Amino acid sequence: MIAVPSPQRVQLLDPHTINQIAAGEVVERPASVVKELVENALDAGSTRLEIELEATGRRKIRISDNGIGMNEADVRACLLRHATSKIRAAEDLLRVSSLGFRGEAIPSIASVSRFTLSSATEDGARFVVRLEGGQTQSETWEAGPKGTEITVEDLFFNVPARLKFLKSDGTELGAILDFISKYAMAYPHVAFSVIHDGQVQIQTTGSGDLFTAVAEVWGRETAGAMVETATEGPRFRLDGFISPPHLTRPTRAYQYVFVNGRPVRTRTLTAALDQAYRDLTPEKRYPMVVLRFDIDPDLVDVNVSPTKSEVKFQYEGMVFDAVRTAVRGALLEAGMMPDAAHILQANQAIQNPNFTLPQVLTGVGLSSEVGSFLQSQADEDPFVFVSQPSKTPFAELLNGLKVIGQAMNTFILAETARGLVIIDQHVAHERVIYEYLCGVKGKHAIERQPLLVPATLELDRSAAVLLREQLDEVNAVGFDLEEFGGESFLLRGAPAALRGKDPLRVLRDLVDELVATGGGKKPVPTREQIWIMSSCKMAVKAGDPLSLAEMEKLIVDLAATENPYLCPHGRPITVTLAKEDLLKKFYRL
Ligand SMILES: Nc1ncnc2c1ncn2[C@@H]1O[C@H](COP(=O)(O)OP(=O)(O)OP(=O)(O)O)[C@@H](O)[C@H]1O
Ligand SMILES: [Mg+2]
Repeated sequence: MIAVPSPQRVQLLDPHTINQIAAGEVVERPASVVKELVENALDAGSTRLEIELEATGRRKIRISDNGIGMNEADVRACLLRHATSKIRAAEDLLRVSSLGFRGEAIPSIASVSRFTLSSATEDGARFVVRLEGGQTQSETWEAGPKGTEITVEDLFFNVPARLKFLKSDGTELGAILDFISKYAMAYPHVAFSVIHDGQVQIQTTGSGDLFTAVAEVWGRETAGAMVETATEGPRFRLDGFISPPHLTRPTRAYQYVFVNGRPVRTRTLTAALDQAYRDLTPEKRYPMVVLRFDIDPDLVDVNVSPTKSEVKFQYEGMVFDAVRTAVRGALLEAGMMPDAAHILQANQAIQNPNFTLPQVLTGVGLSSEVGSFLQSQADEDPFVFVSQPSKTPFAELLNGLKVIGQAMNTFILAETARGLVIIDQHVAHERVIYEYLCGVKGKHAIERQPLLVPATLELDRSAAVLLREQLDEVNAVGFDLEEFGGESFLLRGAPAALRGKDPLRVLRDLVDELVATGGGKKPVPTREQIWIMSSCKMAVKAGDPLSLAEMEKLIVDLAATENPYLCPHGRPITVTLAKEDLLKKFYRL
C-alpha cells in the first residue's frame, strides 16, 4: 500500500493533537537524519531519490527527490514545529497511511545543523531557504525542476555533546545503508542511489518488482535462493520472499518486515516466523525474509513509538496465523520441508562412525567449491588440530586418560586417575582455539589451509563496509580473504582449525555477528571480541559426532590450556565425578 501524496498544504497542528503524538528525540545520529528525509521524500510520492553522503553523513547529507514539492508558504511552514501536511487532527492518527505525521523532523534537523532546503511544485523557480542552528540566514529563488532537495551540513555543529556520542564511521554508514536497503525493498518502484564519499553504495533501478529490488540490494545469489510467498485475506495482503531453511543467519538483522510500506519490528510477526521455521532451522539461526504486509490502516496502530518503528495490530492472532500459514505453505510447496525419510537418512549418516562432516546435513545448497573443499578435507586428516602443547599445566587431566566415548554427540566421556570426566566438547574446543588465537600459546603462526578453489563471498553493502574495516583482524584469525571489488571478497584460505566446516558459512556467520555487535548502541567489536566470536564459530558444536582419536586430541589440547575446567565466562568445561563420589552414590562407602 503506497502512501498517496496529499495535495494538502502544510499547517500547524492544534495543541490537543500535538499531545496525542508519541513524541521523542528524532535526531540522534546521521542515520536518523537520513531516515527522516528519505521518509519525507517517499511521502511526497517521489520515484527517484538521490542520497549523497560525506564522511558518513557527519559532514554532509544531501537528499534530492522528484516528488510533489512545496511552494514558498509550505517551505516556511514546514520549518515550524508541529507543522505537517499529513494529518489535520487527532482522529487522523487512527488511520495514518503516510510515513511521517508529527511535523517534527524538519525543524529538529534544522536546529542542529547548517540546513538548506530548496523546493518547487512545478518546474521553473525553486524557493531556497538557508538556516544555521534553526535560524534563517537567507531566502532566495533559483531555477530548478519540481521536487525537493535538502542539504544537511555539519550535523551537531552547535551541540558538541551529541558529537561525542556518535559511533565509529563504519557503524554509522552501516546503519544508514541498512536502513536504505529496507526502504529500497519496501518501495521497489523508487530508484534509489546512495553515494558515499564519491562511491556508489546502493543503486536500484526502481523497476517496481520486489524480486529485482532484493537482488539489487542483497545480491543475485541470495535473491535467487529465496522462495516466493503470497496470501490474501479480507482486509490484508501478504507477499514477499523467504529463505529456505538451510539459508539462515545468526541474527534477525536480515528479517525485513514492512507494514503498509513502513519497515517495522513487531513481536507478532517475528513470533510467527519463528513458528513457521520451527524444527526446520537450527536453534539460534534465523531465516532471511522480506515480507510486505498490507493491511487496512484502521487495523494497525503506528503511533506507538517515537521512531514509528513499532506497530500494533488490532487482531494480533489473525496476523500471526496469516504469516505462519503463508510461510509454512511456501516452504512446503517449494519442497523445503524435510519429510520423515530425509530425517531418517540424516540420523543414519550421523550414526556412521566415519561421518565427520556434519555440516553436510545443514548445508543442503552448498556450492560445488565448498563441496569439493569438504571432500578434500575428508580425504586428508579429518581433524586438523591447532595447538601443539608446549607445557601441560593440567597434566592430571591426562593421567591415566582413557576416552570412553561420546554422549548425545555433545559430551566426551573419559576416565582419568581422578575419576570419570565429562567434557562439554564445544566449550572445550572453543577454549583451545581462543587461547591459540590470542597468543597464549606463543607467537607461532596461525595455521591456514588453502582452499582448492577460491570461493567468493557476496555481502550486502553494510556488511561489506564493516568487513573491509576489520579485514586485518579477520585475516589474523586464520582466514585468507581479500577484497574483490564492490561487495565481493575472495576467500583463498581458511583456518586449519575449521577442519571439515564450510569456511564460507563460518565466515558469513562471523561477519553477521560483527555487524550485530557493531550496530545499535554498542561500539565496534574489539580484537578480543573477534577472537571470542571466531573461536565460538570455529569450534565443534554440540551435536557434532567425534571419533575417539578426535576426542583424545581435544582432551590433550585442553589440558594444555590455562584453565581446562572453566571457560572465561565461568561456564564449566569439565565435570569430574571422583570414584568416591560414585561409590557413595551406590552406597558402597
Ligand atoms: N521532500 C519533501 N517533499 C515535499 N514535501 C515535504 C518534503 N519534506 C517535507 N515536506 C513537507 O514538510 C512537512 C514537514 O515535514 P516533517 O518531516 O517535519 O514532518 P512530517 O513528515 O509531517 O512528520 P514527521 O515529523 O513524523 O516526519 C511535511 O508534512 C511535508 O508536507
Ligand atoms: Mg517527516
